[in-house]
Amino acid sequence: VSVWDPRDVIATKRDGGTLAPAEVERFVGGFARNEIGDGPAAAFLMACLLNGLDEQETLAMTRSILGSGATIGLEAIDRPTVDKHSTGGVGDGVSLIFAPLAAALGLGVVKLSGRGLGHTGGTLDKLAAIPGLRTDLAVEELERQVLEVGCVIAAQSPAIVPADRALYALRDATATVPSVPLIASSVMAKKLAIGSDLILLDVKAGSGAFMASVADAMALGEACLAIAGHAGRRCEAAVTDMSQPLGHAVGNALDVGEAIAVLQGEEHGRLRDLALAFAARAVMAAERIPPDQAAHRAERSLEDGSALERFRAMVASQGGDGRVADDPAGILPRAPVVTPIRADRSGWLSGIRTDEIGRASGALGAGRVRPDDAIDPAVGIVLRPTIGERIEYGEPIGDVHARSHDDAGAAVRRTLAALTIVEGPVAAPPLVHAWLEGG
Ligand code: URA
Repeated sequence: VSVWDPRDVIATKRDGGTLAPAEVERFVGGFARNEIGDGPAAAFLMACLLNGLDEQETLAMTRSILGSGATIGLEAIDRPTVDKHSTGGVGDGVSLIFAPLAAALGLGVVKLSGRGLGHTGGTLDKLAAIPGLRTDLAVEELERQVLEVGCVIAAQSPAIVPADRALYALRDATATVPSVPLIASSVMAKKLAIGSDLILLDVKAGSGAFMASVADAMALGEACLAIAGHAGRRCEAAVTDMSQPLGHAVGNALDVGEAIAVLQGEEHGRLRDLALAFAARAVMAAERIPPDQAAHRAERSLEDGSALERFRAMVASQGGDGRVADDPAGILPRAPVVTPIRADRSGWLSGIRTDEIGRASGALGAGRVRPDDAIDPAVGIVLRPTIGERIEYGEPIGDVHARSHDDAGAAVRRTLAALTIVEGPVAAPPLVHAWLEGG
């Protein structure tokens, strides 16, 4: 029996050395089996964040996380399957639109989603705002629903990549989230655990993302593609703008309402555009059709109501009230206090501290400070203007949905303080910075 000391692994990383794959696997495996405590694991994560991991170390990290639990093959699914994952953003309800849209296009989507982390929202918390909807589905239920409905969004099961749960909670608590290799291995272990034919990644860049710069987000996208390539999996990544909330709604029921408005054809804008871009990409890959044809098909499935119909079927199949697809305002929980946000200056909106908007929404109850905090599904912030738009003093630019007037007042002030308004016109940022392909 070989004797090893976890401190040697930490020390190697601390001093800028390179670990052998077996050392990474031993350490992460030991942590997953509770043989290594949170203290040494936190020190290891900080050393990884500060000194980085090379490609082989990142692969070993991914393998260790993946190997900590079960996988789902999807062999029984009779249509091309696609998975989609965002590295985390604010007002990012793309998955709620993408999954039923891809199903309407004849693809199968099994998506395991997580809860909100830090200032970012989680698809799981958004879905849980729909009365009755279950997200704790067994593997057989996932498979049955994707065959019957075409899409399913469920909770990350404790049986799949349990090491990621534990590592992520520790990273969240120790300020070790924003690291390219740690995010890449966390995201890709989850994606490799499900045998989808295509993995689409939405790598966010900007003030609401874990990677603030486009260059860092590109590096993260490349790191994810390298992992997919080694695993022999097809993967494409878009680096997209998170310098402002993607949709107008930042909350949970509010995001669901906005996603439904997109599916109903009533809401246009960046959220719709990005969901369409991902759906087009998926159908292009599955059917090998040219981009303009794929874009046209995606748009048609949104406009003819078939994506909305798949959304209704998905909600009903998971035990939720399917009428939410037709009457979101009547079915979704609503906050008792709705206070308008009025612009406190005139000018052009040039920047948003998007993480701060996420935190302000979280402070209303839409997010958690501690892992076991309850979410208030009804509360949140709606912010209408996007970067580059002109705003007039006193104009209503959104609403705060809150439990109390005090909460609402605080969120209005925080939101206004997070906006930069300048005197001259500014250009709107591009929605998609780049598409990266690999695998
Ligand atoms: N999303 C993940 O799944 N993992 C990370 O580390 C960051 C964002």
